[in-house]
Amino acid sequence: MNQLQVQGHSGHSTIYIDSAISELKNLRRGRRMFIITDENVYRYHSTLFPDADEIIVVPAGESSKNLEDVSRLYERLIDADIDRNTLIIGIGGGMVTDLAGFVAATLLRGVACGFVATTVLAQVDAAIGGKNGVNIKGYKNLVGTIRQPEFVINDTAMLRTLNDDQFINGLSEVIKSGLIADRALFELMETHGPQIVATRQGLLGEALGRAARVKVDVVNRDEFESGERRLLNLGHTYGHAVEKITRMHHGFAVAIGMVVAARLSVQRNMLSADDAARIEQVIAAIGLPVSVDLGTDALMDAMRKDKKRQSDKVNYVLLDAIGHAVVTPIEYSELERTLDDLRRPHA
Ligand SMILES: NC(=O)c1ccc[n+]([C@@H]2O[C@H](COP(=O)([O-])OP(=O)(O)OC[C@H]3O[C@@H](n4cnc5c(N)ncnc54)[C@H](O)[C@@H]3O)[C@@H](O)[C@H]2O)c1
Repeated sequence: MNQLQVQGHSGHSTIYIDSAISELKNLRRGRRMFIITDENVYRYHSTLFPDADEIIVVPAGESSKNLEDVSRLYERLIDADIDRNTLIIGIGGGMVTDLAGFVAATLLRGVACGFVATTVLAQVDAAIGGKNGVNIKGYKNLVGTIRQPEFVINDTAMLRTLNDDQFINGLSEVIKSGLIADRALFELMETHGPQIVATRQGLLGEALGRAARVKVDVVNRDEFESGERRLLNLGHTYGHAVEKITRMHHGFAVAIGMVVAARLSVQRNMLSADDAARIEQVIAAIGLPVSVDLGTDALMDAMRKDKKRQSDKVNYVLLDAIGHAVVTPIEYSELERTLDDLRRPHA
Protein backbone atom coordinates (compact mmCIF):
# COMPACT_ATOMS: atom_id res chain seq x y z
CA MET A 1 0.00 0.00 0.00
CA ASN A 2 1.08 3.54 -0.76
CA GLN A 3 2.15 5.48 2.31
CA LEU A 4 3.54 8.94 2.97
CA GLN A 5 5.20 10.01 6.23
CA VAL A 6 4.94 13.36 7.96
CA GLN A 7 7.85 13.73 10.41
CA GLY A 8 6.97 16.74 12.48
CA HIS A 9 8.03 18.22 15.81
CA SER A 10 4.38 17.87 16.85
CA GLY A 11 4.33 14.18 16.00
CA HIS A 12 4.63 11.59 13.26
CA SER A 13 1.84 10.81 10.85
CA THR A 14 1.34 8.10 8.24
CA ILE A 15 -0.86 8.98 5.27
CA TYR A 16 -2.40 5.92 3.59
CA ILE A 17 -2.97 6.86 -0.04
CA ASP A 18 -5.70 5.25 -2.14
CA SER A 19 -6.56 3.11 0.88
CA ALA A 20 -9.87 2.03 2.45
CA ILE A 21 -11.77 2.79 5.64
CA SER A 22 -11.55 -0.95 6.48
CA GLU A 23 -7.90 -0.29 7.36
CA LEU A 24 -9.13 1.38 10.57
CA LYS A 25 -9.54 -1.92 12.39
CA ASN A 26 -5.81 -2.69 11.93
CA LEU A 27 -4.73 0.77 13.06
CA ARG A 28 -6.90 0.72 16.18
CA ARG A 29 -4.51 -1.64 17.99
CA GLY A 30 -6.95 -2.63 20.72
CA ARG A 31 -7.66 0.88 21.91
CA ARG A 32 -11.06 2.31 22.83
CA MET A 33 -12.30 4.26 19.86
CA PHE A 34 -14.64 7.24 19.50
CA ILE A 35 -15.72 8.36 16.05
CA ILE A 36 -16.66 11.94 15.23
CA THR A 37 -18.40 12.42 11.88
CA ASP A 38 -21.02 14.64 10.26
CA GLU A 39 -24.56 13.79 9.25
CA ASN A 40 -23.88 13.50 5.50
CA VAL A 41 -20.91 11.21 5.91
CA TYR A 42 -22.86 9.16 8.43
CA ARG A 43 -25.86 8.91 6.09
CA TYR A 44 -23.82 7.69 3.12
CA HIS A 45 -21.13 5.63 4.78
CA SER A 46 -22.04 4.50 8.32
CA THR A 47 -22.34 0.88 7.14
CA LEU A 48 -18.59 0.98 6.48
CA PHE A 49 -17.74 2.29 9.95
CA PRO A 50 -16.05 -0.21 12.27
CA ASP A 51 -17.48 -0.98 15.72
CA ALA A 52 -16.72 1.90 18.06
CA ASP A 53 -17.32 2.79 21.70
CA GLU A 54 -19.41 5.70 20.45
CA ILE A 55 -20.18 7.46 17.18
CA ILE A 56 -20.86 11.17 17.56
CA VAL A 57 -22.61 12.79 14.60
CA VAL A 58 -22.46 16.60 14.27
CA PRO A 59 -24.47 18.70 11.80
CA ALA A 60 -22.74 19.05 8.43
CA GLY A 61 -21.21 22.38 7.47
CA GLU A 62 -18.82 25.01 8.69
CA SER A 63 -21.18 26.16 11.47
CA SER A 64 -20.29 23.04 13.52
CA LYS A 65 -16.64 24.17 13.73
CA ASN A 66 -16.93 26.36 16.82
CA LEU A 67 -16.10 26.32 20.52
CA GLU A 68 -19.66 25.51 21.64
CA ASP A 69 -19.61 22.30 19.59
CA VAL A 70 -16.11 21.55 20.86
CA SER A 71 -17.41 21.92 24.41
CA ARG A 72 -20.35 19.57 23.72
CA LEU A 73 -17.92 17.00 22.31
CA TYR A 74 -15.65 17.31 25.39
CA GLU A 75 -18.66 16.66 27.63
CA ARG A 76 -19.81 13.59 25.70
CA LEU A 77 -16.33 12.13 25.70
CA ILE A 78 -15.84 12.82 29.41
CA ASP A 79 -19.24 11.23 30.16
CA ALA A 80 -18.01 8.17 28.27
CA ASP A 81 -14.97 8.04 30.58
CA ILE A 82 -12.43 8.78 27.89
CA ASP A 83 -8.84 8.19 29.01
CA ARG A 84 -5.38 8.58 27.52
CA ASN A 85 -5.51 5.11 25.98
CA THR A 86 -8.25 6.15 23.59
CA LEU A 87 -8.31 6.88 19.90
CA ILE A 88 -10.44 9.69 18.51
CA ILE A 89 -11.25 9.21 14.84
CA GLY A 90 -12.60 11.96 12.59
CA ILE A 91 -14.38 10.53 9.54
CA GLY A 92 -15.30 13.29 7.13
CA GLY A 93 -14.14 16.30 5.18
CA GLY A 94 -11.97 19.16 6.41
CA MET A 95 -14.64 20.42 8.79
CA VAL A 96 -14.72 17.10 10.66
CA THR A 97 -10.95 16.56 10.61
CA ASP A 98 -10.33 20.10 11.93
CA LEU A 99 -12.94 19.66 14.67
CA ALA A 100 -11.93 16.13 15.71
CA GLY A 101 -8.23 17.03 15.52
CA PHE A 102 -8.76 20.06 17.76
CA VAL A 103 -10.79 18.10 20.32
CA ALA A 104 -8.18 15.31 20.36
CA ALA A 105 -5.30 17.79 20.71
CA THR A 106 -6.82 19.61 23.67
CA LEU A 107 -8.86 17.09 25.70
CA LEU A 108 -6.77 15.53 28.50
CA ARG A 109 -3.93 17.61 26.99
CA GLY A 110 -3.86 15.31 24.01
CA VAL A 111 -5.47 12.03 23.00
CA ALA A 112 -4.32 10.00 19.98
CA CYS A 113 -6.31 10.69 16.84
CA GLY A 114 -6.60 9.53 13.26
CA PHE A 115 -8.67 10.58 10.26
CA VAL A 116 -10.55 8.96 7.43
CA ALA A 117 -10.66 11.76 4.86
CA THR A 118 -13.84 11.67 2.78
CA THR A 119 -13.57 14.76 0.57
CA VAL A 120 -11.00 15.53 -2.12
CA LEU A 121 -10.00 18.64 -0.19
CA ALA A 122 -9.42 16.70 3.01
CA GLN A 123 -7.44 13.96 1.25
CA VAL A 124 -4.98 16.34 -0.37
CA ASP A 125 -4.94 19.20 2.11
CA ALA A 126 -7.05 19.59 5.25
CA ALA A 127 -6.39 16.21 6.90
CA ILE A 128 -2.64 16.39 6.27
CA GLY A 129 -0.17 18.52 8.19
CA GLY A 130 -1.54 18.64 11.72
CA LYS A 131 -3.16 22.07 11.57
CA ASN A 132 -6.60 22.01 13.11
CA GLY A 133 -8.80 24.71 14.42
CA VAL A 134 -12.23 26.18 14.88
CA ASN A 135 -13.86 29.45 13.92
CA ILE A 136 -14.64 32.28 16.31
CA LYS A 137 -16.52 35.56 15.87
CA GLY A 138 -16.79 34.98 12.13
CA TYR A 139 -13.02 34.48 11.74
CA LYS A 140 -11.92 31.16 10.30
CA ASN A 141 -9.55 28.85 12.15
CA LEU A 142 -8.50 31.51 14.64
CA VAL A 143 -8.35 29.07 17.56
CA GLY A 144 -6.32 25.96 16.92
CA THR A 145 -3.27 23.82 17.38
CA ILE A 146 -0.64 22.13 15.26
CA ARG A 147 -0.40 18.46 16.16
CA GLN A 148 0.00 15.54 13.80
CA PRO A 149 -2.72 12.88 13.64
CA GLU A 150 -1.37 9.36 14.08
CA PHE A 151 -2.64 8.45 10.62
CA VAL A 152 -4.82 9.60 7.75
CA ILE A 153 -6.67 7.08 5.59
CA ASN A 154 -7.57 8.36 2.12
CA ASP A 155 -10.42 6.23 0.81
CA THR A 156 -10.96 7.16 -2.85
CA ALA A 157 -14.16 5.09 -3.14
CA MET A 158 -15.88 7.26 -0.51
CA LEU A 159 -15.52 10.27 -2.84
CA ARG A 160 -18.19 8.88 -5.19
CA THR A 161 -20.99 10.23 -2.99
CA LEU A 162 -19.71 13.83 -3.06
CA ASN A 163 -21.85 16.17 -5.12
CA ASP A 164 -20.24 17.55 -8.29
CA ASP A 165 -19.46 20.96 -6.79
CA GLN A 166 -17.74 19.42 -3.75
CA PHE A 167 -15.72 17.08 -5.94
CA ILE A 168 -14.53 19.85 -8.29
CA ASN A 169 -13.96 22.16 -5.32
CA GLY A 170 -11.24 19.79 -4.07
CA LEU A 171 -9.67 19.40 -7.50
CA SER A 172 -8.82 23.09 -7.37
CA GLU A 173 -6.31 22.22 -4.61
CA VAL A 174 -4.98 19.36 -6.75
CA ILE A 175 -4.24 21.78 -9.60
CA LYS A 176 -2.69 24.12 -7.04
CA SER A 177 -0.35 21.36 -5.83
CA GLY A 178 0.73 20.71 -9.41
CA LEU A 179 1.36 24.40 -10.01
CA ILE A 180 3.47 24.97 -6.91
CA ALA A 181 5.57 21.81 -6.92
CA ASP A 182 4.69 19.04 -9.39
CA ARG A 183 4.61 19.85 -13.08
CA ALA A 184 3.74 16.24 -13.97
CA LEU A 185 0.64 16.48 -11.77
CA PHE A 186 -0.40 19.66 -13.58
CA GLU A 187 0.09 17.88 -16.90
CA LEU A 188 -1.91 14.90 -15.67
CA MET A 189 -4.78 17.26 -14.87
CA GLU A 190 -4.27 18.91 -18.27
CA THR A 191 -4.65 15.61 -20.14
CA HIS A 192 -7.09 13.77 -17.86
CA GLY A 193 -8.87 16.37 -15.69
CA PRO A 194 -12.26 16.16 -17.45
CA GLN A 195 -12.06 12.35 -17.51
CA ILE A 196 -11.31 12.26 -13.76
CA VAL A 197 -14.35 14.46 -13.15
CA ALA A 198 -16.55 12.27 -15.35
CA THR A 199 -15.47 8.88 -13.96
CA ARG A 200 -14.09 9.58 -10.46
CA GLN A 201 -11.68 6.71 -10.98
CA GLY A 202 -8.81 5.83 -13.30
CA LEU A 203 -6.10 8.41 -12.71
CA LEU A 204 -7.97 9.99 -9.78
CA GLY A 205 -5.96 7.95 -7.25
CA GLU A 206 -2.69 8.93 -8.93
CA ALA A 207 -3.66 12.63 -8.96
CA LEU A 208 -4.73 12.62 -5.30
CA GLY A 209 -1.63 10.72 -4.23
CA ARG A 210 0.67 13.17 -6.02
CA ALA A 211 -1.17 16.15 -4.52
CA ALA A 212 -1.00 14.65 -1.02
CA ARG A 213 2.73 14.14 -1.53
CA VAL A 214 3.19 17.84 -2.35
CA LYS A 215 1.48 18.78 0.92
CA VAL A 216 3.48 16.22 2.92
CA ASP A 217 6.77 17.43 1.44
CA VAL A 218 6.00 21.06 2.24
CA VAL A 219 4.90 20.23 5.80
CA ASN A 220 8.02 18.14 6.38
CA ARG A 221 10.15 21.13 5.47
CA ASP A 222 8.09 23.76 7.27
CA GLU A 223 5.63 22.36 9.81
CA PHE A 224 4.89 25.67 11.55
CA GLU A 225 4.41 27.87 8.48
CA SER A 226 7.46 30.05 8.92
CA GLY A 227 8.31 30.04 5.22
CA GLU A 228 7.76 27.41 2.59
CA ARG A 229 4.32 26.35 3.85
CA ARG A 230 3.12 29.73 2.60
CA LEU A 231 3.51 28.42 -0.95
CA LEU A 232 0.36 26.42 -0.28
CA ASN A 233 -1.44 29.76 -0.31
CA LEU A 234 -1.19 30.09 -4.11
CA GLY A 235 -4.44 31.67 -5.24
CA HIS A 236 -5.53 32.27 -1.65
CA THR A 237 -4.91 36.01 -1.18
CA TYR A 238 -7.27 36.90 -3.99
CA GLY A 239 -9.34 33.75 -3.45
CA HIS A 240 -10.11 34.57 0.20
CA ALA A 241 -11.25 38.04 -0.83
CA VAL A 242 -13.55 36.58 -3.51
CA GLU A 243 -14.83 33.95 -1.07
CA LYS A 244 -15.57 36.58 1.55
CA ILE A 245 -17.46 38.84 -0.85
CA THR A 246 -19.35 36.24 -2.90
CA ARG A 247 -19.53 33.28 -0.46
CA MET A 248 -18.63 30.96 -3.33
CA HIS A 249 -16.95 27.61 -2.53
CA HIS A 250 -13.36 27.96 -1.31
CA GLY A 251 -11.86 25.93 -4.17
CA PHE A 252 -13.81 27.88 -6.77
CA ALA A 253 -12.52 31.18 -5.37
CA VAL A 254 -8.96 29.79 -5.19
CA ALA A 255 -9.24 28.75 -8.86
CA ILE A 256 -9.94 32.37 -9.80
CA GLY A 257 -7.11 33.42 -7.48
CA MET A 258 -4.71 31.08 -9.28
CA VAL A 259 -5.64 32.63 -12.65
CA VAL A 260 -4.94 36.08 -11.20
CA ALA A 261 -1.63 34.89 -9.71
CA ALA A 262 -0.63 33.48 -13.11
CA ARG A 263 -1.44 36.76 -14.86
CA LEU A 264 0.43 38.73 -12.20
CA SER A 265 3.40 36.42 -12.77
CA VAL A 266 3.24 37.16 -16.51
CA GLN A 267 3.16 40.91 -15.81
CA ARG A 268 6.31 40.54 -13.73
CA ASN A 269 8.02 38.59 -16.54
CA MET A 270 8.26 35.48 -14.39
CA LEU A 271 5.93 33.27 -16.40
CA SER A 272 5.14 33.04 -20.11
CA ALA A 273 1.74 34.13 -21.39
CA ASP A 274 1.37 30.65 -22.93
CA ASP A 275 1.76 29.00 -19.53
CA ALA A 276 -0.80 31.36 -17.98
CA ALA A 277 -3.24 30.45 -20.78
CA ARG A 278 -2.64 26.73 -20.13
CA ILE A 279 -3.39 27.22 -16.44
CA GLU A 280 -6.63 28.99 -17.27
CA GLN A 281 -7.64 26.19 -19.66
CA VAL A 282 -6.97 23.39 -17.17
CA ILE A 283 -9.04 25.17 -14.53
CA ALA A 284 -11.92 25.88 -16.93
CA ALA A 285 -11.88 22.36 -18.42
CA ILE A 286 -12.91 20.74 -15.14
CA GLY A 287 -15.72 23.21 -14.56
CA LEU A 288 -14.05 25.68 -12.19
CA PRO A 289 -14.52 29.44 -12.72
CA VAL A 290 -11.63 31.55 -14.06
CA SER A 291 -12.99 35.02 -13.35
CA VAL A 292 -15.53 36.94 -11.34
CA ASP A 293 -16.92 40.38 -11.93
CA LEU A 294 -16.01 42.30 -8.77
CA GLY A 295 -14.77 45.87 -8.38
CA THR A 296 -11.11 46.44 -7.48
CA ASP A 297 -12.09 48.53 -4.44
CA ALA A 298 -14.11 45.75 -2.82
CA LEU A 299 -11.37 43.20 -3.53
CA MET A 300 -8.60 45.44 -2.19
CA ASP A 301 -10.61 46.15 0.93
CA ALA A 302 -11.16 42.44 1.56
CA MET A 303 -7.49 41.63 0.90
CA ARG A 304 -6.28 44.35 3.26
CA LYS A 305 -8.41 42.85 5.99
CA ASP A 306 -7.01 39.36 5.41
CA LYS A 307 -4.99 38.14 8.38
CA LYS A 308 -1.96 37.34 6.19
CA ARG A 309 -1.48 41.03 5.48
CA GLN A 310 1.87 42.58 6.46
CA SER A 311 2.02 46.39 6.65
CA ASP A 312 1.69 47.99 3.20
CA LYS A 313 2.77 44.84 1.43
CA VAL A 314 1.17 41.47 0.95
CA ASN A 315 3.07 38.20 0.59
CA TYR A 316 1.77 36.99 -2.73
CA VAL A 317 2.48 33.54 -4.10
CA LEU A 318 3.52 33.80 -7.76
CA LEU A 319 4.75 31.27 -10.31
CA ASP A 320 8.08 31.35 -12.10
CA ALA A 321 7.19 28.13 -13.93
CA ILE A 322 4.42 25.58 -13.98
CA GLY A 323 5.50 23.44 -11.02
CA HIS A 324 7.42 26.15 -9.17
CA ALA A 325 6.06 28.89 -6.92
CA VAL A 326 7.74 31.74 -5.06
CA VAL A 327 6.51 34.00 -2.26
CA THR A 328 6.87 37.60 -3.39
CA PRO A 329 6.05 40.68 -1.32
CA ILE A 330 3.89 43.01 -3.41
CA GLU A 331 2.92 46.57 -2.48
CA TYR A 332 -0.82 47.02 -2.21
CA SER A 333 -0.54 49.98 -4.60
CA GLU A 334 1.02 47.77 -7.30
CA LEU A 335 -1.57 45.09 -6.69
CA GLU A 336 -4.36 47.63 -7.07
CA ARG A 337 -2.96 48.89 -10.38
CA THR A 338 -2.53 45.35 -11.65
CA LEU A 339 -6.04 44.30 -10.70
CA ASP A 340 -7.36 47.32 -12.56
CA ASP A 341 -5.31 46.26 -15.60
CA LEU A 342 -6.55 42.72 -15.35
CA ARG A 343 -10.14 43.92 -15.46
CA ARG A 344 -9.55 45.36 -18.91
CA PRO A 345 -10.12 42.82 -21.69
CA HIS A 346 -6.75 41.39 -22.70
CA ALA A 347 -5.64 40.36 -26.18
N1 LIG B 1 -6.35 22.06 8.64
C1 LIG B 1 -5.98 22.44 7.46
O1 LIG B 1 -4.79 22.45 7.13
C2 LIG B 1 -7.03 22.82 6.48
C3 LIG B 1 -6.69 23.07 5.15
C4 LIG B 1 -7.69 23.40 4.25
C5 LIG B 1 -9.00 23.47 4.69
N2 LIG B 1 -9.29 23.24 6.00
C6 LIG B 1 -10.68 23.30 6.48
O2 LIG B 1 -11.42 22.29 5.78
C7 LIG B 1 -12.78 22.68 5.74
C8 LIG B 1 -13.30 22.47 4.32
O3 LIG B 1 -13.16 21.11 4.00
P1 LIG B 1 -14.21 20.36 3.05
O4 LIG B 1 -14.33 21.08 1.77
O5 LIG B 1 -13.83 18.93 3.06
O6 LIG B 1 -15.58 20.66 3.80
P2 LIG B 1 -16.59 19.79 4.66
O7 LIG B 1 -15.92 18.90 5.60
O8 LIG B 1 -17.57 20.78 5.21
O9 LIG B 1 -17.30 18.89 3.54
C9 LIG B 1 -18.06 19.48 2.50
C10 LIG B 1 -19.44 18.84 2.40
O10 LIG B 1 -19.29 17.51 1.91
C11 LIG B 1 -19.98 16.60 2.77
N3 LIG B 1 -19.25 15.33 2.67
C12 LIG B 1 -18.04 15.01 3.20
N4 LIG B 1 -17.64 13.80 2.76
C13 LIG B 1 -18.64 13.35 1.96
C14 LIG B 1 -18.80 12.17 1.17
N5 LIG B 1 -17.84 11.24 1.09
N6 LIG B 1 -19.93 12.04 0.46
C15 LIG B 1 -20.90 13.00 0.48
N7 LIG B 1 -20.79 14.15 1.18
C16 LIG B 1 -19.66 14.31 1.91
C17 LIG B 1 -19.97 17.25 4.12
O11 LIG B 1 -21.01 16.78 4.95
C18 LIG B 1 -20.18 18.72 3.72
O12 LIG B 1 -21.54 18.97 3.51
C19 LIG B 1 -12.85 24.11 6.21
O13 LIG B 1 -13.33 24.13 7.52
C20 LIG B 1 -11.39 24.56 6.17
O14 LIG B 1 -11.11 25.56 7.12
C21 LIG B 1 -8.34 22.92 6.89
